[in-house]
Amino acid sequence: MSTSAASRRQQFMQTSGATDAVWVHKDKYANRPQFQQLKDDLETEVCIIGAGISGISVAYELVSRGKDVVLIEARDVLSGETGRTSGHLANALDDHYIHVKEKHGNEGAQAAADSHTWALERVGEIAKNLSIDCEYRRVPGYEISQYERDDKRHAEDLKELKAEAEMAKDLGLRAVFQEGLTIKGWDGKPDQRDGVVFFDQAAFHPTLYLVGIMKWLHKQPNFKCYTHTRMMTAEEKGIEVLGIGQKSVQVKTEGGQTIQCAYAVEATCIPLQKISVIVEMEYMRTYAIAIRVPKGSVEDCFIYDSAEEYKYVRLTACDDKDDYMIVGGCDHKVGQEGPENRFQELEDWVRERFTQAGSVDYKWSGQVNEPVDYMAFIGKNQGCDRIFVITGDSGNGLTHGVLAGKLIADEIDGNADPAWAKLYSPSRLASIAKSAVSMIKHDVQVNLQYKRFLETDITDIEDLVPGQGAVLNPKTSKPVAVYKDANGQVTKMSALCPHLKGVVCWNPAEKSFDCPIHGSRFSETGVCVNGPAKANLPPVEA
Ligand SMILES: Cc1cc2nc3c(=O)[nH]c(=O)nc-3n(C[C@H](O)[C@H](O)[C@H](O)COP(=O)(O)OP(=O)(O)OC[C@H]3O[C@@H](n4cnc5c(N)ncnc54)[C@H](O)[C@@H]3O)c2cc1C
Ligand code: FES
Repeated sequence: MSTSAASRRQQFMQTSGATDAVWVHKDKYANRPQFQQLKDDLETEVCIIGAGISGISVAYELVSRGKDVVLIEARDVLSGETGRTSGHLANALDDHYIHVKEKHGNEGAQAAADSHTWALERVGEIAKNLSIDCEYRRVPGYEISQYERDDKRHAEDLKELKAEAEMAKDLGLRAVFQEGLTIKGWDGKPDQRDGVVFFDQAAFHPTLYLVGIMKWLHKQPNFKCYTHTRMMTAEEKGIEVLGIGQKSVQVKTEGGQTIQCAYAVEATCIPLQKISVIVEMEYMRTYAIAIRVPKGSVEDCFIYDSAEEYKYVRLTACDDKDDYMIVGGCDHKVGQEGPENRFQELEDWVRERFTQAGSVDYKWSGQVNEPVDYMAFIGKNQGCDRIFVITGDSGNGLTHGVLAGKLIADEIDGNADPAWAKLYSPSRLASIAKSAVSMIKHDVQVNLQYKRFLETDITDIEDLVPGQGAVLNPKTSKPVAVYKDANGQVTKMSALCPHLKGVVCWNPAEKSFDCPIHGSRFSETGVCVNGPAKANLPPVEA
C-alpha cells in the first residue's frame, strides 16, 4: 500500500483497516459498485443506513416486496466488517445451543436454529436466482476440542460437545458426535480427533455475493444508494396513538441533507447511540490469515475448536494450483491488548496441523461484538416505533444480517414470526437479566479503561517513529492523538472518542486509533470506521 495521504484516506474509505482481507484477491475494491454522494433532501419509504451484509439484505427483501428504499453509506459499499469477515454461513452457533437455551429457553433455541438455517439457505437461493457466481456450496462443520486426546481436558470438552450434538438434533439440525473424527489434510502432530459434525453448513465469497445483489438492486426503480453520505441523527417525528396520527423518521446527514421516511434501519454494525444495547455487548478485535494449500489436499469443511478465543478454518479459491485456507481467531478486547504475535500464533497453529501449508498471502483483523445473552439485537430500537437496529453478531453476524432482512421486512409488513421477533428483540429483558453478573463485571472493567486519561504513550512527538501513531497527554490540556506518516508529516487530532470520551489507543496492525470503552475506531487521520461513534476525531492545532 502506498503511503501518500490520499491513498491512505482511500484505504479507509474502502475497508476498516490498513490491511486487506483475502476477498480482494477475487474482488478488487475498484470493481465494486460506486455511487454518488447525497446532495439533496429526499423522501422515501425506508431509509437504510450502512451497506454491509445487514443493510444490503434488508434492502433486497424490501425492494423485492415493492418498497421504496434509499440506502446510505458513510464510506464505500462493503467497507465495514462484511469485507473483513471469514465468511462461514453456519447454523452451528458459536455460543452453542445448550447455552442459548439457558438464556432464551427451548423456544428461543428453536427460533435460533430455524432462523440461522433459513439464512444460510436464503443466500444460496438468492445467489441462484440472481446468477451470482460466489463459491456458494454446502460443507460440513466440525467442532473439536482445543486439547489433544491425551490431555484430561479433552474429555471434559467432549462432554459439552456431546450435549451440543444432542441438543442440535432435538432442534431438527443434522448433527452427530463422531468418535475418532478425521479430517483430510490434517497430517500434523496434534491429535484432537473426536467432535461434532454439523452437516449442511454453507461457504461463500461474501463480497462477490453482495456485489451481485448490489448490481441487481442498482437496476430496480424503487432503489437508490448514496455513498460517502454519513448519517448523524435519526429521529422519530409526530405522534401516533392506537393508529391515529402519524409518525415518520428524519435522517440527517453530515452534509446537512434530510431524508424523510416512514422507517429507518440502522445497519451500521453498532447502533450510533450512547447506551442501551451498547452496554449489553463486549467489543473484540479478531485476527485472520489466508495461507496457500495445494488444491484438493485439504477437505472442504469448516473447523472450529472449543477455546474461548477459538481458532477456525475454511477454504476459498486462490488460483489453478492452490486454495487459500482462512484461519482465524486470537480475539481480544478492543484497545485493551495489542495485535503483537497474533498473526504468528495463527500461522504456527496451521503449520503444526497442516504440513502442506504454503505462503501466507493475506493477514488482517476485524471487529466482532458479543451480546451478553449470545443473540443479535434485530428489531425496533428501544423506545422506538419506526427505527430498527441490527447489531450483536456474536460470531454469526453474516447469518444474523441475512435473517435481519426477513425479520425487519416482516415487521414492517406486520407479519413477523413471533418467536423470531421475541428472540432478537432489542428490548428483551429476561435473558439480559440472566446475564446481569457478567454484564456488571464487564461494565466495571470497561470503566477502568478511563484510566487512560492519566496515561501518555509518548512525551514528545519527536520520539514517534514514522508510520506510527500514539497518544500524547500533556496533562495541562486534553490528550492528543498523533500520527506521523512515512515522510515525517504529523497529523494531530483529539484523542477523545466522540462517543463517550474514552481516550483512544494506537493499533499498529491496522494503523487506527481504537477506543477501549465501546470499540469505536478511527483511521490514522481520524475517519470514523467503527461505531458507536458517529463523528470523526476532530483535528487539533499545534
Ligand atoms: C475476521 C472476522 C471473521 C468473521 N467471521 C464470521 C463468520 O465466519 N460467520 C459469520 O456469520 N460472521 C462472521 N463475522 C462477523 C460478520 O462478518 C459481521 O458481523 C457482519 O459482516 C456485520 O455486517 P453488518 O452489515 O452488520 O456491518 P458492516 O459490514 O460493518 O456494515 C456496516 C456499514 O455501516 C456503515 N456506517 C457506519 N456508520 C455509518 C453512518 N453514520 N452513516 C452511514 N453509514 C455508516 C459502515 O461504513 C459499514 O459499511 C466475522 C467478522 C470478522 C471481523
Ligand atoms: S466507543 Fe464509547 S467512549 Fe469510545
